[in-house]
Order: sequence, then structure tokens, then C-alpha cells
Amino acid sequence: EVEDVSYYTEPYRPQFHFSPQEMWMNDPNGLVYHKGIYHLFYQYYPEDIVWGPMHWGHATSEDLLHWKQKPIALFPDEHGYIFSGSAVVDKNNTSGFGSEVEPPLVAIYTYHNMEGEKAGKENYQTQGIAYSLDNGESWTKYADNPVIGNEGFKDFRDPKVFWNNIKNIWTMLLVAGDHLQIWNSSNLKKWEKVSEFGKDKGAHGGVWECPDLFQLQEAGSDEEKWVLLISINPGAPNGGSGTQYFIGDFDGTTFTTDQEGAKWIDLGRDNYAGVTYNNTPNNERIFIGWMSNWNYARDTPTEVWRSAMTIPRNLSLKKINGEFELYNYPVPQLDNIIEHAYEEPLLELKALQKTQIPLKYGNQSEIIFNLNGQNSKWYFSNTEGDSLMIQLDNREKIVWFDRSKSGKVDFKKEFVNGKQQMPIPNLPDGEFEVRILLDQSSLELFLNQGQYVMTNQVFPNTDYTELTLENLSDTEMKIDSLSESKVMRVWD
Ligand code: FRU
Repeated sequence: EVEDVSYYTEPYRPQFHFSPQEMWMNDPNGLVYHKGIYHLFYQYYPEDIVWGPMHWGHATSEDLLHWKQKPIALFPDEHGYIFSGSAVVDKNNTSGFGSEVEPPLVAIYTYHNMEGEKAGKENYQTQGIAYSLDNGESWTKYADNPVIGNEGFKDFRDPKVFWNNIKNIWTMLLVAGDHLQIWNSSNLKKWEKVSEFGKDKGAHGGVWECPDLFQLQEAGSDEEKWVLLISINPGAPNGGSGTQYFIGDFDGTTFTTDQEGAKWIDLGRDNYAGVTYNNTPNNERIFIGWMSNWNYARDTPTEVWRSAMTIPRNLSLKKINGEFELYNYPVPQLDNIIEHAYEEPLLELKALQKTQIPLKYGNQSEIIFNLNGQNSKWYFSNTEGDSLMIQLDNREKIVWFDRSKSGKVDFKKEFVNGKQQMPIPNLPDGEFEVRILLDQSSLELFLNQGQYVMTNQVFPNTDYTELTLENLSDTEMKIDSLSESKVMRVWD
């Protein structure tokens, strides 16, 4: 077992986000809560810091923040590499792998057969399962894998399985290039396809990947809707990889929606392949995404490991102007590792005035303030002349994010490639909260409690030491309750 994490101090090493101790990581996999433990599996290549033959790496946590690095859970086998997928607690032992007293954990994943791909075949992705009888410590592959063979699709992957309460059956979401397939099973071994969705809906700039589907109740009412997450690569609004969502209905067999176009869970460039936990203690919908983008994932300037996960977030539904929107906002557990340090009651900036606030905790900070939505710029800078700029354009209803001078950027041109933009059509006219999480190599921006979110990697040459708030409007701007806090390191 890998225990020593004391050296999580390399340049750009996240201090409060999960990153693997070493080597390459991509998508979160098998997110499941079981016996007080949140399991995080992930796409992992243990021999290099670029993508390679995929394994499932493993980490566990009691609070979604302090992670314990575990041994590799799943290794490639004769059927292929182990691509993305999910995990369930088989409480009634429907699979027969365990018993009702000791229910098995079952992982459902994609096999990617390299031989098949090399031979020019189209049907080299199939679905397999494995089980654990010791709470995820060790895994046994099912002897009769694959459980779903390929049906002629080049891209046929990323099974998300959940317990379907409507039909009392297991449901699997599977993506097949340009659409979603829904399969049902009573025992996790024999699967039957029951419906399809999406050829003519949403964004199709790239292949559909990493589906998820769950029910959410609208905050403050009893209206319930189903939310479908679909990652696509390429084709995200700011380039490369991104995650779209659909809000609709699910009758236990078929997903339907009136929504035609795509909506996006995060308008930054670095939140991809995100999915949610199965079996959470209070039915929370907890989401984790991979904080990178296939456009430059292999090129970011780290040496020992590559990439990190987003801060875990709670998903919720709100109705704004008669339409549902999906919010995502850090889990409340995060507050437990925040040391509230400094609070500025009320700052008033005259037209075109600016103010500079020293960042005492550099790239290990949480910054919160309330704003009235005036045109303004908020930027982070350091002694090396790096500067990271966020601009709120109230007239156009757009937030601009510019990391072109934020530090190391020239490892790949797609990392900058123009400013990112996030439309904010429904941001309230009155006061709203701006919450920023700044770690060693990332910045997560949450507007109005997760209504609009941008997640981005940044690689400054040294920690940011100053936050400048600049009023670009011709009226006075009030910045209320600005707090600057230290986020505690989670690796000790
Ligand atoms: C998404 C993805 C998945 C696939 C995995 C392979 O980032 O392409 O569709 O299962 O990565 O590592």
C-alpha cells in the first residue's frame, strides 16, 4: 500500500484537490459511497505521465477532501485496457458475487481492445464487470466477461450503472458515438437494450462520452426532473472537452426532453468527464470532474504526476424564469478545511477606481465577495508579472476569462487560444456571490452559488500575491463582505 504522501509539495501540486501520487490520471470512475467511505477510482497509467494502457487507480476518503492513495484496483487483461465506468453496491446480491450480509461492490467498465483497434476493426470496445468482497481493497474480474459485446460501434463505452427505482432493476447508460443507449439488467450480468436518446439533441461537435442520469428535486418545491450529463470531446464552447446536460424525464426505460440545444455544466476549459456518486448517505448528488482538457492534457507543466480532480460539488436544480438550470457548488465539507482569516466589511469603489488586496495565502486561498454586477475586472497578479484576468461584462452578459498572461502557457497553443467566455443571461440583477477557489494549479469560479461556473488550470511562475478589483462602470461599485481565507492542505 502506498502510504507516504508527505512529498505533495512539488511545483503546481494541488494542496486541496485530489491528484494521484504519481503518473497519469484522467476521468473519475466508479464513484461510490460504501460503509462510510467515498471511493474514487480513476483512469490511470502507472508507467508514464501521458495516457497509456488504462488501469483503474483508486483513492478513498471519509470527507471527499482528505484522500488516501490505494493500490491500483483494475489492470488491463486479455480483453483490453480498462476504460471508464462506474461502481454499485449490490445490496441484494443480485449478481450472486457476494451475499446479502456482505453485499459485493461491482464495477462496470469498458474494455478497449488494442489488438482490435490495430487490426482496423470497429468493434473493439465491450463492457466488463468485476467485483470486490472486501470493500474495494481487491477485485476479481467476472469469468464470463464481456457482459455486453460490441454492436458495431467504434465508440461504445463508459457504462454508468445505477439502481432504477421505477422498475426495480439495474440501469446502464452507455454511449455509442453520437447517442446514448439505455440497457437494463436484473443481475448486472445479462443486459438488454431498452432505448436510445440524443442523435438529434444537444451538441455533437465530438464523440459522446461519460454519461450520467439522475433525478433532482427543484430547490424549495417538490417538482422533480431527471438530469442527463454527457461529456463531449471536442466541441465544448471554449474549445476541446466539455460536459453538456439535458433536463427532462425518465420513465424507467426512456429519457425524453423538450430541450433541443446544449447546456453546459461548466464554461471553463478544465472540467471534463465528470460524473456523480452512487449510494450517497443523504441522497446528495455529488459530482467530480477531471480538471483537464484533451486539447492539452498531455502537455501541462508537471513532472511527477499529471492532472487533478475538481473540488467535489453538489448538484442542484433551480427554476429561473420558468426554466430549469443545473447548479454546481462545492460540497459543504469544504468549509471544514477553510481557515477564515480576513474579512473586509464593505468596499466602495467610485467609477473607474480600483483597489488592491494582498493575497496572504497565495495559491491556497478561498476568496468570497458579493457584488452588484457592475462591469468590473478582477485580476490576480504576482511578483513575476503574471496576471490572470476575469472580467464581467454586464452589458453583453458575459464573463471573460483570460489566462494568456497567467504564468506558464506556451506548452500548447490551445491552452490560451483567445479568451474564454461564459454567457450569464440569468445572473440576478441585485447582489450575488462570487466564490473563488485558488489552488496551486487551478482556479474554480462560482457565481451566484453555482449558477455559473468556470474551472481552469493555471500555472503561475510563483504564487499570486495580489487581487485587484477594478470598477469599469460609471457608477459606484459596492463589494460586500469580501473574505480571504486559507484552505488547509489535505496531505498531512
Ligand atoms: C474520456 C475518455 C472516455 C474513455 C477514457 C479513456 O476522457 O475518452 O470516453 O473511457 O477517457 O481513458
